[in-house]
Amino acid sequence: MGGDGGVPIRWGRGYLGAMDLPTAIIEACRRRDPLHETGELTGYRLFHGEGDGVPGLTIDRMGELALIERSASLEVVVEEIADLLLRNAPVSRVALRGARREQRGPHPAPMESLRGETVTGPLEILEHGLRFLTAPDERRASGFFFDTRPVRRWLRSHSSGRRITNTFAHTGSLGVAAAVGGARSVLHIDNKRSPLEVAAEHHRRNGVPLDERSFLKGNVYQQLGRAGRRGVKVDGVVLDPPPVVPRRMAPRAPVGQDFPQLASLAAPLLAEGGWLLCCFNREDRSHEEGEREVLEGAGVPLRIVERGTSGIDFPATSPERRLRWSVFLRG
Ligand SMILES: C[S@@+](CC[C@H](N)C(=O)[O-])C[C@H]1O[C@@H](n2cnc3c(N)ncnc32)[C@H](O)[C@@H]1O
Repeated sequence: MGGDGGVPIRWGRGYLGAMDLPTAIIEACRRRDPLHETGELTGYRLFHGEGDGVPGLTIDRMGELALIERSASLEVVVEEIADLLLRNAPVSRVALRGARREQRGPHPAPMESLRGETVTGPLEILEHGLRFLTAPDERRASGFFFDTRPVRRWLRSHSSGRRITNTFAHTGSLGVAAAVGGARSVLHIDNKRSPLEVAAEHHRRNGVPLDERSFLKGNVYQQLGRAGRRGVKVDGVVLDPPPVVPRRMAPRAPVGQDFPQLASLAAPLLAEGGWLLCCFNREDRSHEEGEREVLEGAGVPLRIVERGTSGIDFPATSPERRLRWSVFLRG
């Protein structure tokens, strides 16, 4: 593919036609100028696929690194994308996640460095004074979700003095934001041990207290049910379930983002004045439908006090293709 950037983009069963790749990347970088310019933020999405004009291309900034993920149809322009990024984004290193076609053997490397110093191991990013680790060389996900940045901001200013349960915690970023915001206690629940170990490291890096009771490796459905039977009360619950839940992990209709069931387990744990924060990301549900599922499933009176979406680094062609989140107050 030549340097003029005319890229035929595969789209469904056809092609979108020639797309001017340099313009799409330069515009995406300019759109994020407000993010580049605050020295306090060094981790965010630099290019968001269809929302930035090129389906199948995502690029994340992780400190000095731009990490490219692309569909097979964009393989031929990867080198050109790397040079465009060095010229237009505040990065000095570029890497590609996933092997190129000619390198896909039985054990393909998860990541290839394209420009600048070779990347090995996790990289720290800054987010408005918070420190988190990203893992660009992990095979499947980088351990950190940039689209929940506005949720972390909300949690930081609404958790003071509260007992918070952070379900589907992964590497704990939402609970850490609550802890930095002065939460009395934070309990992270996830069914995998290794992300919880990173969550503990996130507590240490952000100077917020933790002990072994801060982490529970287990099934959220079972743990919330057990806490309810014991009469446990908390002042905040974060529900950020994955879009798809493995069948063995959910007792009933495990379709993922199963808010009727999750709300019925979580809302009764809330003390008077406690809040439930839900992250919605199913493309087949509107924000309002997700909220209705929570309100109807809760079994206790809740009212919506806040709603939001992801930041400017996640432009989307329709509202359902973005993260949406709402906060419900008990009482
Ligand atoms: C979308 S991630 C959550 C992201 C997280 N809130 C953050 O800020 O990084 C989903 C997490 O839920 C966990 N998970 C999925 N099903 C679960 C279940 N039934 N019980 C406990 N954890 C579960 C996965 O291991 C994964 O870490």
